[in-house]
Amino acid sequence: MLNPSMTYLNHGSFGARVESVFKFQAALKRELEFSPVDFLDRQRSRLEEARQVVASFLGADLEGFGFVDNATTGVGCVLNSITFNSGDEILTTNLVYNGVRQLLNRIADDVGCSYRETAIDLPVQSSDEIYHRITESIKPATKLVVIDHVASSSSLIFPAEEIVQFCKEKGVLVLVDGAHAPGMLNLDVESVGADWYVGNLHKWVCAPLGAGFVWAAQDHRDSTHPMTVSHLYGQGFAREFDWQGTKDITPWLAAAKAVQWGDEIGWERIRKHNHSLATWMQQSLVEAWNVEPLSPLDGSMLGNMATVLLPFGHPNTMPACLALRDEIYNKFQIEVPIFELQGKGAVRVSAQLYSREIHLKQLITAIS
Ligand SMILES: Cc1ncc(COP(=O)(O)O)c(C=O)c1O
Repeated sequence: MLNPSMTYLNHGSFGARVESVFKFQAALKRELEFSPVDFLDRQRSRLEEARQVVASFLGADLEGFGFVDNATTGVGCVLNSITFNSGDEILTTNLVYNGVRQLLNRIADDVGCSYRETAIDLPVQSSDEIYHRITESIKPATKLVVIDHVASSSSLIFPAEEIVQFCKEKGVLVLVDGAHAPGMLNLDVESVGADWYVGNLHKWVCAPLGAGFVWAAQDHRDSTHPMTVSHLYGQGFAREFDWQGTKDITPWLAAAKAVQWGDEIGWERIRKHNHSLATWMQQSLVEAWNVEPLSPLDGSMLGNMATVLLPFGHPNTMPACLALRDEIYNKFQIEVPIFELQGKGAVRVSAQLYSREIHLKQLITAIS
């Protein structure tokens, strides 16, 4: 549904909508407004059906799966469910999504426990480097490790399963932030094995905005609640998440339609297409701008996005990067995130089915 005269290289931020899914949701909204009580109260089986489609797509068992509005809300639910003491530590990395960083800081400030980010310095050569940086940083006081499945600014895929396995052996809790993972990775939430997993469907599944989820392992289901506790409190994890006060649940219902849209094309086919295009984008930008790659050029640490340093002489502070981003949009109608990353200016490009090689060439012409 994107404006065709715009060059859209930022699918990663908010996704983009598929016309058929949008129309499906619009029809649902009309039905809701036609008979609100019937839709929201009596027709709860619609939600059950959507939960089944989406949870099965994600490899998450139904009893541990709950819809939320977005990944941020999911992280909030998880953090609220953990009892921290003042001697405890929350550990994450310097590649954590900034919104999640703020949530972790707030919890640490509230309970007086400590918060630490282990540094993953770019460039990285292998997943092993990430694994070792994180696992070697865990201390006896570490109560919770928060890792990204696909990190936002760096675009790197973390070896989540291996890190989770290590944490389990050490008795440390792990939350995996998979905001980008559904639709980008061949995700099987249960086999990641984390204590909690949160994700978004409005990014790479192209569901309507407002479709995220939280999954909790068996041991945490009784203690993890929605941010908005309501009527179904105490009736089990899945039921509690089904009713988070009066709200428009059409993004969740239409998320199932988005999963089916991808099924028709083939999710494996979509992922392959996007991954090989993102790998090509990384190679082309690195070559055109003559910069050091931030991860292997074979794309082995990337999904559908690639982060590349700006060429020499371009901005390297956040305000100047944001000004360049706006200038590129205003002058060339190219939407691409440009930001400061570890003291350098960087661009993150996203590959989705609508992406074309010409879009990247336009970016190279705009920034050279
Ligand atoms: C790694 C990561 N976590 C969390 C979020 C937050 O997602 P939302 O704004 O949908 O809650 C994002 C958004 O880009 C992200 O990249």
